[in-house]
Amino acid sequence: MDWQDILENKNQTFNWQDKSPDPKIIEKIIDDVHLHCPSKLNKVPYTMEILDWSNEQRRHKIFKNTWCDENTPEDRRNPQVLAPYLFVFYPRDTGDRLANSYAQIEIGLASMFVVMSAVNYGLDIGFCGAHNDNITLSIGVGYAGPDDPEKGGTYYNPILQKEVIGVPRSEFRRSARNDAEIKPNKTEYIKRLYRL
Ligand SMILES: Cc1cc2nc3c(=O)[nH]c(=O)nc-3n(C[C@H](O)[C@H](O)[C@H](O)COP(=O)(O)O)c2cc1C
Repeated sequence: MDWQDILENKNQTFNWQDKSPDPKIIEKIIDDVHLHCPSKLNKVPYTMEILDWSNEQRRHKIFKNTWCDENTPEDRRNPQVLAPYLFVFYPRDTGDRLANSYAQIEIGLASMFVVMSAVNYGLDIGFCGAHNDNITLSIGVGYAGPDDPEKGGTYYNPILQKEVIGVPRSEFRRSARNDAEIKPNKTEYIKRLYRL
């Protein structure tokens, strides 16, 4: 996929198809991170766990801990973590204080490698930073499901133990351009210290 296509195909995803990606693609994503993601002193101050659904209890627990407003069964939570695969990041003690101090930055870098690599191989992704446990950030990876509830845009909520209406991906898409979670104006955070 060319770079522009990767950018256009990267969309925050909440609803997933049942279809699971080929584990060989997941291996390629892992290798892309390992071979190409830069790391201060090459110490890699984070752990990246990759979960499928073989430990259902663990997956449900992660979902339970992604509440948005309050920890009630009704809270929407973050269904992007219910993806067929979940890449989970948390800091790792490398034994080197300087390297450890880069953990948050490096989790950001590695997660972006996972995202771009997954999209390049035709998969969809969903970020989740709203973890109320020891997870710093996770990336759901799979194939996007439909947004429209009438076309199957629902997901099984393991806390409520029923199908609920999913979060429409289109509401979040292109956060630089739509109204849902709009970015600040470019001039607010990009300072061009050169002449155009
Ligand atoms: C570090 C980080 C954490 C995020 N955490 C969440 C989250 O907890 N819940 C959520 O719905 N979206 C989360 N997002 C996604 C963003 O809110 C936003 O929807 C997304 O970047 C827009 O992507 P798109 O324009 O590619 O669709 C997170 C994004 C980043 C970079």
